[in-house]
Amino acid sequence: MSKFHTIVDLDLRGKRVLLRVDFDVPCNDAGEITDDSRIRGAIPTIQYIIDQGGKAVLLAHRGRPDGQKSENLSLAPIAQRLSQLLKKNVAFAPDCIGDAVEKMTTRMQNGDVLLLENVRFHLEETEENGREAFVKELAKMGDLYVNDAFATAHRKHASTYDLAKEFDSPAAGLLMEKEVLILTNLLTQAPSPFYAIIGGSKISSKIGVLEALFSRIDGLFIGGAMIYTFMKALDLEIGNSLLDEEHVDTAKYLMKKMRSKGIEFFLPKDLLIANAVSKDAETRVVSLEEGIEEGWIGVDIGPETIKAWKDPLDHAGTVFWNGPMGVFEIPLFANGTLEIAKILADSNAMSIVGGGDSAAAVRQSGVHQKITRISTGGGATLEFIEMGSLPCLEILQYVET
Ligand code: 3PG
Repeated sequence: MSKFHTIVDLDLRGKRVLLRVDFDVPCNDAGEITDDSRIRGAIPTIQYIIDQGGKAVLLAHRGRPDGQKSENLSLAPIAQRLSQLLKKNVAFAPDCIGDAVEKMTTRMQNGDVLLLENVRFHLEETEENGREAFVKELAKMGDLYVNDAFATAHRKHASTYDLAKEFDSPAAGLLMEKEVLILTNLLTQAPSPFYAIIGGSKISSKIGVLEALFSRIDGLFIGGAMIYTFMKALDLEIGNSLLDEEHVDTAKYLMKKMRSKGIEFFLPKDLLIANAVSKDAETRVVSLEEGIEEGWIGVDIGPETIKAWKDPLDHAGTVFWNGPMGVFEIPLFANGTLEIAKILADSNAMSIVGGGDSAAAVRQSGVHQKITRISTGGGATLEFIEMGSLPCLEILQYVET
């Protein structure tokens, strides 16, 4: 990981600071923000710009609109929430490029905050075609460039990567610096024993991070739908549970690799199964060996598993957790995920949670204050662990001037 400039290296007074943030927050069907932690995460950097007499011009994306404007992916509601959190007016621009928007930025007073509309309403943000001209347009909105969008730092997009090259000293924001520091510590000086708890459904999306973790961890706990692919690899019955069919051999390979490295492998001892993935389903608990009969689906880890995992997790030095233990969005199947969150909250381990779903689960369990760090990143966190850096950090690297 190379050293990079941070916002504190810059003289912000009177300058328009083009700040890339990640405001890609979940909303319910009524369009209300259900988790504003990414907005809160950017507050220290925005407040720093205000305090230093700079002008904060915020650039962000929401969702994957593929270059199409859509009202439900507008950043307008985010401006309102940000305004409440900052306790000051946040102006909103209807686009992120163009003369009218540029004028809005040049009329800003020191300490003002302006949020630009979803940068992904322009296809050039994510596609190469026409990107150069788009980047030049974006660059007109600021005198300085700061990237605080850790959760998007794995994407080589126009506003996260190419735009940095348009400025003399592109720098990282305070959130970016904090996230990178915590994950760097996780990779270089994690107190042992170091355990990883990995859930979610697809082994394919976790192979890289698992292999990277294998050189550091003492034990791996598997939860979520990945359980059933590992069960299949062990010739156990999985009924109608979700199966990553192409990766049964990968599961075998990963188990062999863990054996050869002496990594303790924890598959659940028992499972909660249901006759449907619905809130009114019939449920029962089965042991792993008993397996799951046809017509039934694995939806959560069982009570014996929670009991058995509590002791090693209580004595962990470090725990990294990514991915829920079951279909936790349905309260009937949320127990395993919520109990794991509570175990981590009560343990003295350095606990780091990465990934939108597991972070949401920890918040739902009400114990988030007792977790060492809930990363704002999903894919970015996993890629940082896998690669030890991210493309949008590399572009901010420190150059002696
Ligand atoms: C995220 O939600 O992980 C980031 O905002 C990146 O979003 P993306 O996966 O749509 O690029």
